[in-house]
This record gives sequence, C-alpha cells and structure tokens, in this order.
Amino acid sequence: MDFAGKSIISVDQFDLEGIEKLFALAHRMRKIEQREVRCQILGGYILGSYFWEASTRTQASSEMAFMRLGGEVISKTGIPFSSMVKGETWADTVRVLQATCDILVVRHPEKGSAEIAAKYSKKPVINAGDGPGEHPTQALLDLFTIFEEGKQIEGSTIAMCGDLKHGRTVHSLAKLLRLYKNVRIICVAPLEIQMPIELVQQLQDAGVQVECTDSLERGIAHADVIYMTRIQKERFEDIAAYDRLNGMYVLNRRVVEQHCKPNATIMHPLPRVNELETDLDDLPGAAYFRQAENGNLIRMALYLLVLDKVRKLF
Ligand code: NCD
Repeated sequence: MDFAGKSIISVDQFDLEGIEKLFALAHRMRKIEQREVRCQILGGYILGSYFWEASTRTQASSEMAFMRLGGEVISKTGIPFSSMVKGETWADTVRVLQATCDILVVRHPEKGSAEIAAKYSKKPVINAGDGPGEHPTQALLDLFTIFEEGKQIEGSTIAMCGDLKHGRTVHSLAKLLRLYKNVRIICVAPLEIQMPIELVQQLQDAGVQVECTDSLERGIAHADVIYMTRIQKERFEDIAAYDRLNGMYVLNRRVVEQHCKPNATIMHPLPRVNELETDLDDLPGAAYFRQAENGNLIRMALYLLVLDKVRKLF
C-alpha cells in the first residue's frame, strides 16, 4: 500500500505489506524517540492536533512524535472552545483548520467524522478516534505491541473484554486481525454491549473464529492476549444502564492467577477505570504501559510515510 499523501481513516486501508512496512520503520524510530539521534526531517512542517473529545495519550503521543521528527504543532482541544458552539459545521471547521497545517490529527465524538474531515481537507487527516467508530493508530500500536511482547498473531487466541459495542479500539484491532490466518477472537461482554453483529459477520467472513461469552473467567481461560477495555460511560444515553454494567468485569492478580494461561499478555488502551486493578502492574505480562509508549514509534513512522519522507531519512 502507498501511504504518501493519504488520510488514515480506517484500518480497512491496511494490508499486510503496509503493516510490515510501518512496523519496520517504527523499529527504526526508537533511537530518535529516545533522543539518542536528533532528527529534523519534519522541520518547517506543522501538525494540526485538533481534539474535540477527551484525550490524554493519543494527543500527547501524536504531538510528541511529530516534534521528535523536528516538526511543530498547533493544538486545539474541546468543542466548547471552538466555533462549533457558535453553530459552525464540522465541514467548515475542517476547511478552515486544514489551512493552518500540513497534516491533521483529529478526534471527534461522531462516528464518520474523520471521513468527513478527509473529504473537506486538502491535507492528510489521521483519525484519532471518531466516536464509537474507529481508532486506527491505536489498533496499529496494539498490534505492534502484541509482536513486541513476543506473541505471534497466527494461531493465537485473543480475548477482547468489556465495552465491545462502543469501544473503537477493539473495532479497529479486530478488523486488523482479519489479515492474519487462524486467529480466534473471544468477545467477552454483557449482551447489551457485545461486538456489533455486522463486525462479527465481517470477521467470520474473513475466516476469523469468533466466540462470544459474557463470562470473563471462561473468556480469558485460553487466551494468549487479554485486551481489556473500560465501559464507555460517555456513550450511554441511559446512565442507569451504564451503572448496571460498570464494574461487571474486574481483572486482578487473583483472577489472572486462577484463570489465565501463565504467559498471557494483558493489554488495555487506557485509561483504565475499575476493570484492571493495579496489583497486576508488576506482572511480566502486563503490557499496557509499554503499549502506550509504543504509540510514539508507530505515530512517528506513520507521519514519515504519509508525508513521504522515508527516502530522505535513510
Ligand atoms: C481509548 C479511546 O480514546 O478510544 N483511549 C486511547 O485512545 N488510548 C480508549 C478509551 O477511551 O477507553
């Protein structure tokens, strides 16, 4: 796949060759990320970091990655501080903002908003989360982390647990896993927030073995990778429904020691709320903070590919 000048809206755009290219480049970013090697390849470039929904890691990592490559960042956060509160449309907002930068990273509460942004922007747009839709850079760093933790994807069992209805990270990761052979995904969620049926169908059509259960203990028992997610409170119209589901799944050391394979990798896109207890943090398989760090490498590599700078770098 050719990344140059392309917006990154969905993981559907990726093929195995593209992923391998991205991951190989991400490995080469480590020395720059650690400041062992200074790099100014994006000198003179501006990233527009426009987040209309809460973010800690994705925004900070997206900005840091751009700066480590010598670029500069304009950052805007929160609909209440934008002209959207005055009634400006998303399309007009994008038309104006794309003229302030060379590439945009955008987060917005509505599914499909990133696609609209790409339509109205002359500059490449990277989707940093469109409501319950997708979160491609997160899924890429998740996949990268699974490999970095020494796991194979082919032939593996991955348990995705929690809010699989609203969780954009699991939507994107599950779609990426379709590219690999002989993958088994166990969807562990209460019925109300199970993986969308169309997505399960797409996975099965691609040859992924999908099983659904509402039992955390049963779901994680044979998993090589356990991917926990929080219940996405902000996506619930009925807060009583959230209250019923919140706290349903809690992974802690006791549960892991009793029910999981000894070398299972534990992942979480973060932020965690109450589904992942801190007594897990010292376990060798607890990968979630390493996972967050890997985002820097993936985003650096993605900028270089999208801005077509790889040949000039090496
Ligand atoms: C996730 C998100 O925003 O979708 N966080 C992240 O980007 N790492 C997960 C979440 O908010 O639960």
